[in-house]
Amino acid sequence: MPVVDLSEHAEEFNADPYPTYAKLSAAGPAHLVRTPTGDEVWLVVGHEEARAALADPRLAKDWRPLAETGYEELPASSNMLETDPPQHTRLRKLVAREFTPRRIEALRPRVQEITDRLLDTMLAAPSRTADLVDSLAFPLPMTVISELIGVPDLDREAFRVLSNQAVAPLSGDEGAEAVGKIGVYLAGLIEGKRRAAPADDLLSALIRTRDEGGDQLSQDELIGMAFLLLVAGHETTVNLISNGVRALLGHPDQLAALRADFDGLIDGAIEEMLRYEGPVETSTYRFAREPVRIGDALIPAGAPVLVALASAGRDPLRHQDPDRFDIRRAPQGHLAFGHGIHFCLGAPLARMEGRIAVRTLLERAPDLQLDVEAAQLEWLPGMLIRGVRHLPVRW
Ligand code: HEM
Repeated sequence: MPVVDLSEHAEEFNADPYPTYAKLSAAGPAHLVRTPTGDEVWLVVGHEEARAALADPRLAKDWRPLAETGYEELPASSNMLETDPPQHTRLRKLVAREFTPRRIEALRPRVQEITDRLLDTMLAAPSRTADLVDSLAFPLPMTVISELIGVPDLDREAFRVLSNQAVAPLSGDEGAEAVGKIGVYLAGLIEGKRRAAPADDLLSALIRTRDEGGDQLSQDELIGMAFLLLVAGHETTVNLISNGVRALLGHPDQLAALRADFDGLIDGAIEEMLRYEGPVETSTYRFAREPVRIGDALIPAGAPVLVALASAGRDPLRHQDPDRFDIRRAPQGHLAFGHGIHFCLGAPLARMEGRIAVRTLLERAPDLQLDVEAAQLEWLPGMLIRGVRHLPVRW
C-alpha cells in the first residue's frame, strides 16, 4: 500500500487536519501514513472502524514483546495505558474507585474555588487581556490533579515543559527524553512521600497499597501511575477548555444560546466541544499482534496503529453536517474519550472541570472575545494532542 505522507504539509495539516481526514475516510478506513514527525504508522479513520479498532484485542498496547519496535523501556511506561490485560486490569482497578462520578462530584466545590481564584487574578489585569491557556486552562486541571494525587507543591512550570514535550514532541527523541526526565523527577517525589508522615492522598495510598496477590506496586508501576495521571490529567483538559472557548467565541450564535441558558445547555456544549475539536486527535499507539484486516488494508503483525479520534468526530455517516459546531445537536456519541478497556478514566473529572471553567469564565466576562487571528495561532506539534499553545483573549 502506498504511504500517505502527512509530513509534506505538516504545518497546514496541524492547523486543520479535518479535510485530510475526510479525504482519507472517503478512500477507506485504514491507511499507511508518514506522520508529521516522520514515523510510519497505520491510521484508522471513520467512526465505526475507529470504535472497532479501539476495542480490538488484536491491537495491543504493550510493545515490549515486539522487540523490533526499538522503543526504549522507561519506568514511566509501566502504566495502564501501555499495558494489556491482566496487568492493565490490575493497575486500573487500583485507582478506578477514585474516579467514579460520585467521588468526582465531591471535588466540585474545590474545582469551583480554584476556578474562581484563577479568574480573580486573570480578570484583574489592567490591560483587560490575558492568555487563557496560562491563566485558566492549564493551571486549573494541573492544580486539581496534583492535589488529588498529593503533590500540591509540584514545580508546575518545570513539569509543564517536560509534559508538553512528552505528549507533543518535535521529534521521537525529544519525547523519550522528556518521559525519562519526568520518571526521574517522579521517583524523587515518591521518595519524599515514603519518608513523610502518612498522608491522605492517592499517591500515599498507592505507596501503601497491597494488590490482590499481596505485592506492593513496584517502584516503576508507582512512577508509571503518577506519570499517567499527572500527564493525562492536564494535557487533555487544558485543550478541552481552550479549544472549547475558541469554538464558542468563533460562533457567536452558539455563544449567545449558551449564555441565555447555561443550565439547559452547558452539558451539551461540552459534549459538542469534545466531538467537534476534542483534545486527543489520535489515540495512543497500538500494535498488531497478528495480521489485522481493516477494509482493504492488511496491517502486518508488529505494525504500529493509531486511531484518528478527530476523524471519527467529523464522520458524516455518524454526525449530520459534522463540520458545523452546534451545541444543541442531538448527541450521537463521540470517541473523544476513547472506547473499550482503555476508555478515559478521568472522563467524569474532565467533564466537570470543563463545565465549571467554561461557565464561570463566560459568566464573569460577559463580553469575552478572542484577541488573536486564526492564522496567528500556534498549534501543538504531532498528532496526539489537538490544541494551541496560547489563546489570547480580551474583555
Ligand atoms: C477532556 C479531557 C480528556 C480527554 C479528551 C481524554 C481522552 C482520553 C482518551 C482518548 C483515552 C484513551 C487513549 C487510547 O485508548 O489510546 C484516555 C485514557 C486515559 N485518561 Fe483521559 N482524557 C481526558 C482527561 C483525563 C483526566 C482529567 C484524567 C485524570 C485522571 C485522565 C486519565 C486517563 C487515564 C488514566 C487513561 C488510561 C486508561 C486506561 O488505559 O485504562 N484523562 N483519555
